[in-house]
Amino acid sequence: MDNRQKLIVNGGSQRRIEGELRVHGAKNSALPLLSATVLAHGECVLHNTPRLTDVDAACRILTQLGCRVRRDGDTVSVDATNVSGYEIPETLMREMRSSIVFLGAVMGRNGRCRLSFPGGCELGARPIDLHLSALEQMGAEITEEHGYLNCEGTLHGAKITLSFPSVGATENIMLAAVTAKGYTEIHNAAREPEISDLANFLNKMGAKIFGAGESVITVRGVERLEPAEHSVIPDRIVAGTYLCAAAITRGELILTNCEPQHMNGFLTVLESMGARIYNYGGEKLYITCKKRLIAPPTIRTMPYPGFPTDIQAPFTALCATAEGTSVFVETIFENRFRHIPELVRLGASVKTEGRVCVVEGVKRLSGAKVCAAELRGGAALVTAALAAEGTSEITGLQYIDRGYENIETALRSVGADIRRS
Ligand code: EPZ
Repeated sequence: MDNRQKLIVNGGSQRRIEGELRVHGAKNSALPLLSATVLAHGECVLHNTPRLTDVDAACRILTQLGCRVRRDGDTVSVDATNVSGYEIPETLMREMRSSIVFLGAVMGRNGRCRLSFPGGCELGARPIDLHLSALEQMGAEITEEHGYLNCEGTLHGAKITLSFPSVGATENIMLAAVTAKGYTEIHNAAREPEISDLANFLNKMGAKIFGAGESVITVRGVERLEPAEHSVIPDRIVAGTYLCAAAITRGELILTNCEPQHMNGFLTVLESMGARIYNYGGEKLYITCKKRLIAPPTIRTMPYPGFPTDIQAPFTALCATAEGTSVFVETIFENRFRHIPELVRLGASVKTEGRVCVVEGVKRLSGAKVCAAELRGGAALVTAALAAEGTSEITGLQYIDRGYENIETALRSVGADIRRS
């Protein structure tokens, strides 16, 4: 990945997003699904797997563990027959902190796992205390030395209550519990669609998981899991980002291969701002937005089914040109407004105070050189640049490419004047 790459965007009131876009598979589902393949004694096949650098990193971890990984278009096959490895090298852990989601599966398959502390990231500390305390309750012995975690033990079921409905911790516990001895209960479990997608795949492999998508999940451990075939659910955050792109340019867009049921937490906000959204049923959504949006009621990011933290940044861009004042309260991560100074460079009028961000809508943005510092903040800068009068240059594409498949190709296909150089 050449970090010097940049996106050149010519935006403004004459450039509307108009057309039809297919939504790719969900990054935040593909990653735990790829981890789950470690548990199968044979070859799993995952369809609708997005082509993203984070997915590439997960495939490198699987190879490192002894899996045979093949990609054919958006289908990834993983043969874990001969998985013997249990160490995730620091380079790969640092490349992608969500590699922590391999811990539960590797423990389930090998009874041991060694990985470096994932460390923080652009969003803040990103602790893993909930993951580790849950695995210890299931019988794992976890020691830390020189920045490495050593986990060992034969896992057994446990009754686990999460102090926060952590997505990653819920996934790790499920992955550890499916072949642990006895029953596991997860209370205050995360309810994100990605949790249900993982449970559906594991149950196809022979696992016994009940209640995924609710706050209490129970797992009955089984002896052995067999390979299965599965299709990754659509990416609700990518879908929402493209809806913001259409809305901020007062365009109209049809999204295909999306799952509207997963998007209610922010579709209602878009409608409250004046966008018109039609759900054709099935996997299609249509949005049209012919007039200036109005500021929504206060937006507070919450665990699913609330307003997703991952779509907060693109919405701050959308509100930058809305009429009125918008207030965002970021309750999930401590440092998720890093894109705001760059939005201000594009002409937005925004102030942040801790976890609160206040956006005063302006009539127009103006093109500028801006830099992405993390994935969703980068997507927000692209969204704003589409509406900004004149030319914008966006660097930091290594962040954006983690979660958006060929973002410039996608947007150009629906009328944006955008290219990568
Ligand atoms: C997942 O991260 C997603 N990543 C994130 O998406 C998403 O923002 C997040 O869930 C919330 O929806 C993937 O699925 C790969 P959490 P995760 O554990 O699992 C605290 C993106 O842009 N916490 O639900 O790391 C934590 O500090 C990414 O696609 C603990 O305190 O999120 C945070 O404040 C960004 N201790 C909160 O919980 C723990 O052990 C939410 O974290 C674990 C988490």
